[in-house]
Amino acid sequence: MIPSPLPVTIRPYMRGDLARLHEIDRICFSPTIAYSLAELRFYLSGRKAIGRVAELSGLIAGFAVGRTEDNGLAHVITLDVLPDARRQGVGKALMEDLHAEFRRRGAGYVILEVSVDNFGAKRFYLGLGYRFAGLLPGYYNGETDACLMIRPAAGPPPEGIDR
Ligand SMILES: CC(C)(COP(=O)(O)OP(=O)(O)OC[C@H]1O[C@@H](n2cnc3c(N)ncnc32)[C@H](O)[C@@H]1OP(=O)(O)O)[C@@H](O)C(=O)NCCC(=O)NCCS
Repeated sequence: MIPSPLPVTIRPYMRGDLARLHEIDRICFSPTIAYSLAELRFYLSGRKAIGRVAELSGLIAGFAVGRTEDNGLAHVITLDVLPDARRQGVGKALMEDLHAEFRRRGAGYVILEVSVDNFGAKRFYLGLGYRFAGLLPGYYNGETDACLMIRPAAGPPPEGIDR
């Protein structure tokens, strides 16, 4: 019998999660891209911040951080899934929850940056309806370029329909 995937639980970020989320960020990203503890705390603070934590069997498997700006734009700050928990729908579940909150807050479009050489993440975001909107030279520490990606908060238009 093929085992069914473990159910993913998504819950709001709590202050006590910060240290573990910082560890996970350093596992998921190279030192040039990973956030410092102070940066992560900043992005998870204030009324614009949205933090979501994914759990598998009661253990943190990943997290997402987003922000909504006053101009109707929402921004995915980071998305991290532990290597052992990947390809089980955790990233997708986190993004679906983030998108729902962006819509609830009235965002029209969602933007994010992803390293040009992060091919897996680019495929992941394309699958969620994001499209390339530009190149950001030296975005990561002046060293690595990033792709800017964008998607309507409401979701991609249906195939074959221009609007
Ligand atoms: C990118 C990332 C968040 C994806 O998380 P995940 O939980 O593995 O993603 P999901 O299981 O929800 O994947 C959904 C779909 O996206 C696509 N996808 C995900 N990872 C992929 C990869 N490495 N290569 C190609 N396609 C991928 C697949 O179509 C996948 O569906 P499938 O498994 O049925 O084929 C995860 O790999 C990660 O944390 N990477 C390190 C940090 C990072 O790059 N973050 C994003 C940049 S900001």
